[in-house]
Amino acid sequence: MNDRLSTGRRRTINAPTQTSMILKIVKYGESVLARPTEQVTAFDRELRELVDNMLETMYAAPGVGLAATQVGIGRRLFVMDCSTEKDKRQKIALINPVIESEEGEQIGQEGCLSVPGFYFDIKRPRKVVARGQDLDGNPVVLEVRDLEARCISHEVDHLDGKLLLVHLSPLKRDMLERKVKKKMKRGDW
Ligand code: NI
Repeated sequence: MNDRLSTGRRRTINAPTQTSMILKIVKYGESVLARPTEQVTAFDRELRELVDNMLETMYAAPGVGLAATQVGIGRRLFVMDCSTEKDKRQKIALINPVIESEEGEQIGQEGCLSVPGFYFDIKRPRKVVARGQDLDGNPVVLEVRDLEARCISHEVDHLDGKLLLVHLSPLKRDMLERKVKKKMKRGDW
């Protein structure tokens, strides 16, 4: 996910770890974004590398959340950092996430790195409790609110094969689809 605040802010080059690299973010129209994901079963070095690369990719974009499907991988995990690297505690990788409960609502501007250049007012829960696993497979419970709740809701949608467009009215969705098709024709997507 990205929001207007994080957009345009460029990441200063911050000595990435030796192995991490920026991955290609797939865009709306690619089938991997529309498919539900598979559970992660191996908590190994490959998973760690994927998470490192996803974080690197998210920071470089810049964005505050990134789901594995957005880098073309149909597995159930996402990364997020709503502090944009200012607070280490907010740097999160959640494996096999499930939303356990939602409370309240918030309406706010939201964008998606897979639908670049578009922002919409979208209604999300104000508070979210999510369960999942950390990189070692240990159970994790996250209780978050506001931007982090918006972000987790957005990323778990991705992992269920849903983009933020599902929260738009049919009219707005049609308009977006037409604009994207024009961009595709121009080779600008
Ligand atoms: Ni997104």
